Amino acid sequence: MRQKIVAGNWKMNNDLAQTEDLLGQLKNQWQENEGVRVIVAPAFTNLHHAFESLRKTSIDVAAQNMNENSEGAFTGEVSARMLTSIGVKTVIIGHSERRAIFRETDEVLAKKVNAALENDMEVIFCCGEELNERMAERHFEVVKSQLGKGIFQVSEAHWKKVVIAYEPVWAIGTGETASPEQAQEMHAFIRKTIAEKFGETLADDVSILYGGSVKPGNAQEIFAKEDVDGGLIGGASLKAEDFLAIVNAF
Ligand code: PGA
Repeated sequence: MRQKIVAGNWKMNNDLAQTEDLLGQLKNQWQENEGVRVIVAPAFTNLHHAFESLRKTSIDVAAQNMNENSEGAFTGEVSARMLTSIGVKTVIIGHSERRAIFRETDEVLAKKVNAALENDMEVIFCCGEELNERMAERHFEVVKSQLGKGIFQVSEAHWKKVVIAYEPVWAIGTGETASPEQAQEMHAFIRKTIAEKFGETLADDVSILYGGSVKPGNAQEIFAKEDVDGGLIGGASLKAEDFLAIVNAF
C-alpha cells in the first residue's frame, strides 16, 4: 500500500544529549497525524536510544546507511543484523552524500539494498541528479540509470519494502527547492519507469518521497502533487517545530 511518509534525515548532527532533547520535543509536540507515517534517522550511536525512546509512539527509526556484508573484517562498518538486533528495521540507502563523498557506486548500493531486504528491512532508496546533469537535460536519464542499477534487481515481493526518495542534488541543503511541478514531473517519471518493468499495480503502490530543502513554508504545495507521497527532510528535521509542521502539511 502506498503510504504518506515524512522522514527526517538527521545526518551527522546531534550527540546523545541533543538526540534526547529533540526526541523529547517530538514526543511532546507530536499529535498523531492520521495517515502520515513519521520516521527519524539519527546517527548510528544514537539509534538504540532513539528506538527505545520512541518505542511507545508510532514514530519509526531508520539508519542512514549500512554495510552490504553480513559480518567480518570491515572496520568501522555496521551490518543489517546489527541494526535489526536493536529494533531498527528501516535504512536509507544511496543518499547523494554517500554517493558523492563516500564514493558509493550503483553496484555497492545494489548490494546494500539486497542485504537490507534479505534481513527483512525496509529500504528508502535515494536517487537524484546533480545540477550539471539537469542543466544538460540529462536528469531523467540519470535517475533512470540509478534506479536500474541500484534497485531494479529487487523481486516483486520485496518491493513492498521499498520506498523511493527523489532528491535532486542541487536542492539538498542549498535552500533551493525543485518547484512542485519539477518534483511531480520526476515522480511521475519514476513511477512510469517502475511500471514499465514491474507493472502498474506495483508502481502505484510505491511511495515516492521528495527531498531537498523542504521547509514548513513549501511542504504543502509539494505534497499536494499527485505522485509526491511525502518527504525526506534534512535541515528542517533538526527542529521539532519545523519537522512537525512539515508532517502536518499533509
Ligand atoms: P535538506 O536535506 O532538507 O537539508 O535539503 C535533504 C536530504 O539530504 O535528505
